[in-house]
Amino acid sequence: MVDRTRAKLGTTIKDVADAAGVSVGTVSHVISGARQVRPATRERVNAAITELGFRPNRVARSLTRSRTSTIGMVIPDVANPFFAQLIRGASDALEASDYVVVFGNSDNLGAKERRYLVEFIERRVDGVIVAPASNADAEQIRDLGEQLPLVLVDRVTPGWLGDLVVGDDQAGMALAIDHLVGQGHRQIALINGEGELSTARERRIGFERALRARDLAAIAVSEGSFSIESGREQAITMLGAEVRPTAICAANDLLALGGLQAAHELGLSVPGQLSVMGYDDIAYASLASPRLTSVSQPGYAIGAAAARLLIERLRDPGGARQEVVIRPSLVLRDSTAPPDPGALGRTG
Ligand code: RIB
Repeated sequence: MVDRTRAKLGTTIKDVADAAGVSVGTVSHVISGARQVRPATRERVNAAITELGFRPNRVARSLTRSRTSTIGMVIPDVANPFFAQLIRGASDALEASDYVVVFGNSDNLGAKERRYLVEFIERRVDGVIVAPASNADAEQIRDLGEQLPLVLVDRVTPGWLGDLVVGDDQAGMALAIDHLVGQGHRQIALINGEGELSTARERRIGFERALRARDLAAIAVSEGSFSIESGREQAITMLGAEVRPTAICAANDLLALGGLQAAHELGLSVPGQLSVMGYDDIAYASLASPRLTSVSQPGYAIGAAAARLLIERLRDPGGARQEVVIRPSLVLRDSTAPPDPGALGRTG
């Protein structure tokens, strides 16, 4: 009778060989498929593996096959629903190709990101997907890209010349400005995340470029972090200014939710006295009150595209570099409306 307790805690390949009455090498050949094994013997070995609950050691197996079928993924904020969707898209695609995915949350901190990247190398992952936490890791990411297949997703660090999947951030902000200016807004402000990140930088550039194309300028541009609290703080500051914005454009939905919170605290009605727009179109956008107008970028599809590029790279290490740019779209809801005529030029 098999001791099931031990079977669950640490069955070895030797245990399987003993149970099947074959050598360890035969068990290894059945697992790896590296050599032909008589059907009857293979059946005995597979029965013992099932009975004992044996799980091949990926790292040990990698020493013979030089692959672990494991992918490392580092994401800056798993609490942000956009990244949760991105992770889901990538992991579904990778698991469909028989990869196991190991995640790390960098909290937008370079030190945490670096620790995960080192751990991934030591665990001999086959490839890595990173949404960079900061530009400080640009050189480390370039070096890592020399050592194993690596795809950047959502954000790009300076000097990266490898595979990449990003949203078209400038086009996304142009959609937002076209919508707000089309409604009659001329006093438009931007609240943003960490300015050094490519997403924050490209959205600010897109915002200002789209205004310039209409002979307009931002009434205010600020930055903080891609979080609800930062959105609230930035909006409160702007709404207390000499000339108040009639519309706030947020560089992501978490910032926009903070903007709604600020308007509520200041007794401003949205969209009656202030319009607020978001970016990402996370699930909460349609649950907010009022429901949030947002620039939609498909986190799931972006993650799946990053996984596809990595799988193709693993199959063809010398293949041409691939860059996928996902075009965003506009989702109109209830948080934007033509400005209150009395609000134009209103102070404080
Ligand atoms: O990292 C913050 C933001 O950048 C996310 O909300 C998403 O918009 C990403 O592109």
